[in-house]
Order: sequence, then C-alpha cells, then structure tokens
Amino acid sequence: KHVLIINGANLNLLGTREPHIYGAQTLDDVVAHLAQVGAEYGMKISHFQHNGEGEIVSRIHAARGDVDYIIINAGAYTHTSIAIRDALAGVAIPFVEVHISNVHAREAFRHHSYLSDKAVGVIVGLGTYGYEAALRFIALQAGCFKT
Ligand code: DQA
Repeated sequence: KHVLIINGANLNLLGTREPHIYGAQTLDDVVAHLAQVGAEYGMKISHFQHNGEGEIVSRIHAARGDVDYIIINAGAYTHTSIAIRDALAGVAIPFVEVHISNVHAREAFRHHSYLSDKAVGVIVGLGTYGYEAALRFIALQAGCFKT
C-alpha cells in the first residue's frame, strides 16, 4: 500500500516553531520515523510539504490512481480551505486528518475543520505521534501485517 503524508502551511517550521505547542522534532525527523514505521508494514511512504494551497490541491489530484491512503495535516488551511476539501473528496482517496496540537483546546477559529466530516478519522493533540498513530491505523485497516 502507498501512503501519502501531506503537511500544509508552516509545518516546515516544525521543531523551531512554537515548540511548547508543536514539540522539538523537525519535519525531517518525523518523516524519517514514519518511513521506518511504514517499512515495518511493507508500505510505501511518500511525503509532500507545501505552504501553498494550490500546490496541495494539485498534489492531491496527482495522487489519484497512485496512492491508497492520505494522512494530512493541512495546518491553517484546515480551517479555511474549501479547495483542499473538494480535492480530497474529488479523488476519493480515504484520508486521516492529523493535528499535532489539540485544536479544541485552542482559539475558537481552530475548532472548525473543512476536512473532518470527509475524513476516515481525526487525530488531535497527540503531538507528532499522531502521524504514527494514523499510519499504524491505516496499516491495520489495509491489512498490512508486520514484516
Ligand atoms: C495544526 C493546528 C492548526 O490550527 C495550525 O494552523 C497549524 C498546525 C496542528 O498540527 O496542530 O498550522 O494543524
């Protein structure tokens, strides 16, 4: 199975950006760890980070026919982007939505997501472990067994 991890706006700053909220791990650390976890299950892992909404939309389109599951942390686009919502619905690739922080314990504008009702599931507040949790869930759901 091929899993695409998408990180949106500002997630390239992971490790240096508000570490009390988002932790000390860099995005490279997180992605390297996810590649290891994916390898345990014989899954192919791809990663895409972009700060632009349109680029994320285009990457989702390109995933059609190639990717089995998406894990997406759209960053602030979560709360604003009908375009990313429509792209995910358009390609009909099942996806898990991840947020590092507990968005529900933060500002009211972070409580609404344009993606959640289309997601298979949503993980919030588990730190960067949320990506790993999503990946292990997908492995289980897709019937990928540990190698
Ligand atoms: C975030 C939460 C969003 O509200 C915020 O805009 C982010 C990161 C998270 O992972 O906790 O950029 O998606």
